[in-house]
Amino acid sequence: MAFLNKAIFLLVVLSILLVEADSLKQPHIVFIVADDLGWNDVGFRNPSMITPNIDKLAREGVILNQSYVQPVCTPSRSAFMSSVFPFKSGIQHYVLESGQPACSSLNYTFLPQELKKLGYSTHAAGKWHLGFCKWACTPTFRGFDTFFGFYGGGEDHFTHYTGGYLDYRDQFLPATEYKNVFSAMAHTEHAVRAIKNHNQSQPFFLYMPYQVVHAPVQVPKQYEDMYPNVLNEGRRKFCGMVSVLDEGVGNITQALKDAGMYDDTLIIFTADNGGELLGNFANNWPLRAGKHTVYEGGTRGTAFVHGSMLQKTQYTYNGMIHAVDWMPTIISAAGGTPITDRDGMDQWDSLQSGSPSKRSEFVYNLDDFPEPLEGHAAIRMGDMKLIEGYPGRYDGWYLPNNKTKTQKLHMIPYFTGDSPVQLYNVIDDPLEKNEISAQYPEVVAKLQARLAEYRKQMVPADFPPVSPLSNPKYYGDVWSPGFC
Ligand SMILES: *[C@@H]1O[C@H](CO)[C@@H](O)[C@H](O)[C@H]1NC(C)=O
Ligand SMILES: *[C@@H]1O[C@H](CO)[C@@H](O)[C@H](O)[C@H]1NC(C)=O
Ligand SMILES: *[C@@H]1O[C@H](CO)[C@@H](O)[C@H](O)[C@H]1NC(C)=O
Ligand SMILES: *[C@@H]1O[C@H](CO)[C@@H](O)[C@H](O)[C@H]1NC(C)=O
Ligand SMILES: *[C@@H]1O[C@H](CO)[C@@H](O)[C@H](O)[C@H]1NC(C)=O
Repeated sequence: MAFLNKAIFLLVVLSILLVEADSLKQPHIVFIVADDLGWNDVGFRNPSMITPNIDKLAREGVILNQSYVQPVCTPSRSAFMSSVFPFKSGIQHYVLESGQPACSSLNYTFLPQELKKLGYSTHAAGKWHLGFCKWACTPTFRGFDTFFGFYGGGEDHFTHYTGGYLDYRDQFLPATEYKNVFSAMAHTEHAVRAIKNHNQSQPFFLYMPYQVVHAPVQVPKQYEDMYPNVLNEGRRKFCGMVSVLDEGVGNITQALKDAGMYDDTLIIFTADNGGELLGNFANNWPLRAGKHTVYEGGTRGTAFVHGSMLQKTQYTYNGMIHAVDWMPTIISAAGGTPITDRDGMDQWDSLQSGSPSKRSEFVYNLDDFPEPLEGHAAIRMGDMKLIEGYPGRYDGWYLPNNKTKTQKLHMIPYFTGDSPVQLYNVIDDPLEKNEISAQYPEVVAKLQARLAEYRKQMVPADFPPVSPLSNPKYYGDVWSPGFC
């Protein structure tokens, strides 16, 4: 009897050790950020979109139904990289312009820096948009072994020029030989090369902040031609951009397979904000409004995760995830101990097993800075969402604009102050159709009090005017660090 007990005990210990050894294996991690991609711009939600690679990964993995991001690019990327709410690190206001002498706070280590401590080889290709006024702000000094792409927020997809000057780099040096190579092809090529060159004695981390599908609306003609039924030229080109993005995702997936890394890779895919409707033809139907607003269309991102390390797959996860959660979640997946004094929550268990989210509240944004017109204040607690004052540049619910006429958006003139407030139950009413602040004054008071607590932790936005010293003519006609 005693012998049997001992044997069972040993078996249990052995199986625990085996499970531990298995979970100790560090996965490769590919973190893809699609720029300005809308809620309704992927095939797994909208059958008119041609995105077979994205759809396959999403359907095999876990589609995230409540994955929140910031209303615009720079703050979202800062949240991904630092796990700090942008209003606490001074990067909550609008987006950085190339010549502004500022960057995402150097007070916080970035995700790839933490991954390097865990033994990862780290690579990035695409758009940085977290400031570059000095080298310390740039990707290779913030944890990436290699970087290929551009430092600013947007540029011509073929020439890689913005404001009349080149913004393109391979590691430290200007990359001049990519004229007429479309952004997605150049960025994917770097990623594929990084995968091919990877020495698998180390785990691999790839950050892919694609420039597509950000404005300007440009795409090689064969991708536009995939959408003959879309009569509106802008939307047709935009759809083509989405399909190039999808092809890039497919090429990265194939490269991982060819290298024998695919089965050990965790793929995370997310948009940086909602789709841009202002002249950019993205679509967030049926959600309200889009980029530049704190409505769900601007902040509820298209996102999914994929990988053999997920225990429950092929379903839609409804738990609340926020952009700040990715850093601790990824560190946890990588076998590390997440930093606990930041805003992110380690959601790795929840994503792996489908258990409830650790998160029950977050701040959409807190921004008091006056110009340009973006000031926002909104919070989610449980099922409820409160917006104080200005919700963003436009409003309304829009179907994909595939007709020839341009879409008329309902613009909201900017106003300051904390009123009127808007209250929504985004679980019962995800489309924000029923404003209920008048019915629930006590809920309004509770959310306002919580937002006021957060406001005490706000760091003023670091949003200096463009510096004349940033002019690329001082740096061989290339946008370059050196002006702060
Ligand atoms: C065009 O828009 C309608 C809705 O107005 C939608 O049902 C249809 O699928 C769209 N077609 C294409 C090709 O995008
Ligand atoms: C960074 O740290 C310094 C020194 O502690 C502090 O004064 C500053 O406010 C911090 N900046 C941000 C954005 O947190
Ligand atoms: C994907 O790979 C194919 C084959 O090498 C190439 O022709 C295509 O341009 C690539 N697409 C992207 C978006 O990189
Ligand atoms: C990979 O890295 C290991 C450990 O540093 C080294 O011993 C090995 O030679 C490397 N392999 C290649 C192909 O470079
Ligand atoms: C995803 O969220 C929407 C909006 O909140 C909801 O209507 C839908 O039921 C959710 N989907 C799943 C599969 O839970």
